[in-house]
Amino acid sequence: MDNTATPGAFVRDLPKAELHVHIEGTLEPELMFEIAERNALPLRFDSIAELRSAYKFQDLQEFLDIYYEGAAVLQTEQDFFDMTLAYLQRAAGDGVRRAEIFFDPQTHADRGIPFPVFLEGIHAAGRHAERELGISTGLILCFLRHLAPEAAMETLETGLAYQEHIIGVGLDSSEVGFPPELFSDVFDRAGAAGLHRVAHAGEEGPPAYVWGALDTLHAERIDHGIRALEDPGLVSRLADNRIPLTVCPFSNVKLGGFTTLQDHVLPTMMDHGLNVSINSDDPAYFGGYVGDNYIETQKALGLSDATMAVIARNSLEATFLPASVKQTRLQELDDYVASHSA
Ligand code: HPA
Ligand code: ZN
Repeated sequence: MDNTATPGAFVRDLPKAELHVHIEGTLEPELMFEIAERNALPLRFDSIAELRSAYKFQDLQEFLDIYYEGAAVLQTEQDFFDMTLAYLQRAAGDGVRRAEIFFDPQTHADRGIPFPVFLEGIHAAGRHAERELGISTGLILCFLRHLAPEAAMETLETGLAYQEHIIGVGLDSSEVGFPPELFSDVFDRAGAAGLHRVAHAGEEGPPAYVWGALDTLHAERIDHGIRALEDPGLVSRLADNRIPLTVCPFSNVKLGGFTTLQDHVLPTMMDHGLNVSINSDDPAYFGGYVGDNYIETQKALGLSDATMAVIARNSLEATFLPASVKQTRLQELDDYVASHSA
């Protein structure tokens, strides 16, 4: 393929989907300060530079502590709109044609922010971006697994009142010690309501958590899933059923899953025939958006443009778009690849 343009240009502009991004994790320090100021809320950091310098994490929990603290500046529908639109502008600039975005209702509702405030803000930004930027969005309501399953069920019941704005449910926050089985009732209820189901599993947790997400939660996609490789039977199950794994390379390195990007198991995952996509997770905290993840991962692992196109194809195939729309997006990808071939 012709790769004579700017290095990375081929993969940055590849038509792709982003399937693993937490909207609260897209809140850049600059916008966090701006929003804190307009809401007259104190931050414990004196400057953007000081805040950024705190973004050093040993593990998932260290990250989550600061991520929840940052999200606490969000108060009004406008705050959620601004954060979401800023993300969608960056994503559209990275070739993203479809973003299926996580949001954490409990992080906001437990601070007294009413459901319609955050949901309408996020949703309105999605509508605006669809009109103006040609990127479509779907929203995935996530349950915080460090909180009680009963609280998740209450969150779902509230969320179902806004079901027209939601495509599915997910499971995030601290993984180890909070196995998927705890949430089987709430995922059953979500499934019965016609929502898609995904779950974080195998990020820090063992392969058993990925089995649990598949068998107990009936997850259609696994978020992260990097530890699945430890269990050959699980790899076969994921490969045979084309269960997508939404991998987040920068996140995995920042949270200690791998020492460097060169150590990432993504190529092994692909060799096993898994549907692997590349995603940003919490780009404001982990050093880059989806395009940066594509570019740096390609460089670090020496992946060909053809392999990167397979990853983009995987992402589009793994979306929850209707089949006809998915087909159109896949055709755009094929046309893009053909037009960039030597
Ligand atoms: N893992 C679990 N929960 C999260 C993450 C993550 O990477 N990002 C935001 N919430
Ligand atoms: Zn995540």
